[in-house]
Amino acid sequence: MTAPKYAVPYVNLPEQTAAIKRELLASVERVLDGGRYILGPEVSEFEREFAAYCGSKLAVSVANGTCALHLVFRALGLGPGDEVITVPNSFIASSSSIALTGAVPVFVDVGEDLNMDPARIEAAITPRTKAILPVHLTGRPAPMTDILEIAKRRNLFVVEDAAQAVGATLDGKRVGGFGRAACFSLHPLKNLHAFGDGGMVTTDDAEFAAQLGRGRNHGLRNRVECEAWSFNCRLDEIQAAMLRVQLPRLDEQTRERRRLAKIYNDRLRDVVGVPDEGPGESCVYQTYVVLADRRDDLQQHLIAGGVEALVHYPLLIPEQPAAESLGCDLGKLPVAVRLVKKILSLPLYPGLAEPQQNRVITLVRSFYGR
Ligand SMILES: Cc1ncc(COP(=O)(O)O)c(C=O)c1O
Repeated sequence: MTAPKYAVPYVNLPEQTAAIKRELLASVERVLDGGRYILGPEVSEFEREFAAYCGSKLAVSVANGTCALHLVFRALGLGPGDEVITVPNSFIASSSSIALTGAVPVFVDVGEDLNMDPARIEAAITPRTKAILPVHLTGRPAPMTDILEIAKRRNLFVVEDAAQAVGATLDGKRVGGFGRAACFSLHPLKNLHAFGDGGMVTTDDAEFAAQLGRGRNHGLRNRVECEAWSFNCRLDEIQAAMLRVQLPRLDEQTRERRRLAKIYNDRLRDVVGVPDEGPGESCVYQTYVVLADRRDDLQQHLIAGGVEALVHYPLLIPEQPAAESLGCDLGKLPVAVRLVKKILSLPLYPGLAEPQQNRVITLVRSFYGR
């Protein structure tokens, strides 16, 4: 195991993996010996287990979270002339997955909690709007009650971008079961992760799940017939087997993330904006994001002190060169524009030791002269 570059790295995947390495290797061996490497029993079992975990009827595994979103939008029939309402402060894939169908992402502003502000949705709806894509950013559930109410009244699909939020709950219900479908990423930095790329879609609709199952596999209806052009974006058996080792441990890891977040919240509240949970929310802290004055200087102060702090994400999606043709008016997104200069992700992961967390806290406090 190579020594981390920072006294407090942003994550420490080799250390987290070490505890379950034996079981992971045994699961890989099971696949190697079984001889089924694509769409075999590990994938089917993991899909069943993941759906049960999320409280949804079905889950369809795919190659990554971006494919999950794109396949869902394609399956909903989105194309040129359609619009999807989403947020500007997510990872680019939330919007690229819409744009790649030919539809247009339409950005609405967020609240102080960094999630979609439902009060902004109605004004963004046009006759072309087909769907709403809230993102459960940082692992905090978006305000689904209000979003679902608007979507129902205006006859729009809701797709959850749950890439960062596996296990998060709102009013006791896990994300993944609120809309027509929900999309998860199993990227190595996510709370439940593959050793490489992976993604999942959850849905309660059997025909929709079957459509996604064909969509991830060349559009094949059976071994011979292709019903519509599509991609090859399947989850590998080896990844599914290793994910099955981790899923039963996810809740324990989430409890640890929540414990660490509470310590940060309690000890940093007087110097930076901390992510307190709103009513009914139970967050999973895929990222622990504070709102900091003089953010860039604080980040440098932390790095100089051996703490790897990151910004997720330094550019709003409409500011990306790829989004230029959308001609989005940033003046309509004042909260996102203000908060993007303040967000800073501090190290938070199961295995973060008390002295490491203390070091982060001491450095943040000392930056503000406290
Ligand atoms: C909010 C969000 N949406 C979508 C994605 C895309 O997932 P993936 O990297 O697995 O393609 C990510 C992952 O980084 C994400 O954070």
